Amino acid sequence: MEQWLSEQEAVARGMDAADELRAMRSEFRVPRAKDVGGTDDGECVYLVGNSLGLQPTGTRGAMEAELEDWARLGVEGHFKGGHPWFSAHEEVRGMLSRVVGALPREVVAMNSLTTNLHLMMVSFYRPTRERYRIVIEDTAFPSDSYAVRSQAEFHASRAGFDASRAVLRLRPREGEATLRTSDVLEVLDRERSSAALVMLGGVNYLTGQLFDMPAITRFARERGMAVGWDLAHAAGNIDLRLHDDGPDFAAWCSYKYLNSGPGSIAGAFVHERHLHAGAGLPRFAGWWGNDPKERFRMGPEFRPVESADAWQLSNPPIFALTPLRVSLGLFDRATMPALREKSRRLTGLLERLIDERNARRPGAAVGVLTPRDASQRGCQLSLVLPGDARRAFAALQSRGVVCDFREPNVVRAAPVPLYSSFHDVWRFASALDDALAGGAS
Ligand SMILES: Cc1ncc(COP(=O)(O)O)c(C=O)c1O
Repeated sequence: MEQWLSEQEAVARGMDAADELRAMRSEFRVPRAKDVGGTDDGECVYLVGNSLGLQPTGTRGAMEAELEDWARLGVEGHFKGGHPWFSAHEEVRGMLSRVVGALPREVVAMNSLTTNLHLMMVSFYRPTRERYRIVIEDTAFPSDSYAVRSQAEFHASRAGFDASRAVLRLRPREGEATLRTSDVLEVLDRERSSAALVMLGGVNYLTGQLFDMPAITRFARERGMAVGWDLAHAAGNIDLRLHDDGPDFAAWCSYKYLNSGPGSIAGAFVHERHLHAGAGLPRFAGWWGNDPKERFRMGPEFRPVESADAWQLSNPPIFALTPLRVSLGLFDRATMPALREKSRRLTGLLERLIDERNARRPGAAVGVLTPRDASQRGCQLSLVLPGDARRAFAALQSRGVVCDFREPNVVRAAPVPLYSSFHDVWRFASALDDALAGGAS
């Protein structure tokens, strides 16, 4: 190996040795390279926690315990199980609130993400004939685009506006990949009498850009707009301050950075100012949103509990909540500020290695879509590959690297501070070099 390469590797190993969170990796099942497209028996380089987080080692036992409670106790498990099902969603509330910087009563684990976005819009998107537009990013995740458009269509004929004009998509300047906060604010100011709702991704799924959530939230609210954040790529990635930032609502999934398993239960946040009785919000109701003291009186009246739980419809799916409980326990141990601090160093190393290797590869540089300013991104870097990007991506996979590809040439790589090592980052950069050079695996 060339001298500079082995020096880089030694630096990465040194950073691992100094990493106070390094023991957390042993709390996760890291797939073997040969099971995920590579050839060797060692651990793969897993940089796709922005899509599906790894399985905590404690998840299987916790799931088996729930199965056992069900087998042993039947319906009595609702009150006599190790983690009684009646209040299972309440058990995760405190941990969930710490991950997103909210008050415990402002959060609830329920449903899946798109469902929660819809339920939140039922309450917070209240268009009128004049004020009906919904502001999203042009590169919003497709599900969000469909959700906002269908909400606009749902209201259009009653409120008397044209649904085809309702969704306003924020586009970066010509030649730029990400949005400037000043441009976002300018649009919001221009649309101050027509925009009813601003609903952006806290971290954009494609570019990895972290928006200035406090500034955008404040600016939009001062202009009378409702504000909601899709935090699919931010929850467990960014040290969020939802209560202080003050959006009306937020929603996120738990299968990415929150490691709760494919399709697992999502989260929602409703700001405290909307939680008191008589807040006057329209809301779709179900029995699990009823005050728990009344729930089993089985009366016809809905008396919403004064917390985000009021938006719950059904009793929670225990086999989806259990992995969330296990994973959130790990977040409580590691703490979000410490994870964020490590995350900056991990992604900073990735950026540096890409830059150093680019300097040795004139004419075939790997581009970076994600902002270079660490305060404007989470752990993900979105890389634009030169040349035949699909072929290079396949070559990365054959080298035991798991990341993902977005057409036509973007590879998203997300070192996750709970389980990724600095050496993983070095291995990725080296594999990318080889893949671009077309070398053998
Ligand atoms: C930003 C964003 N929004 C929405 C979704 C859709 O999530 P779900 O299928 O859980 O509703 C995803 C899924 O990856 C996403 O990344």
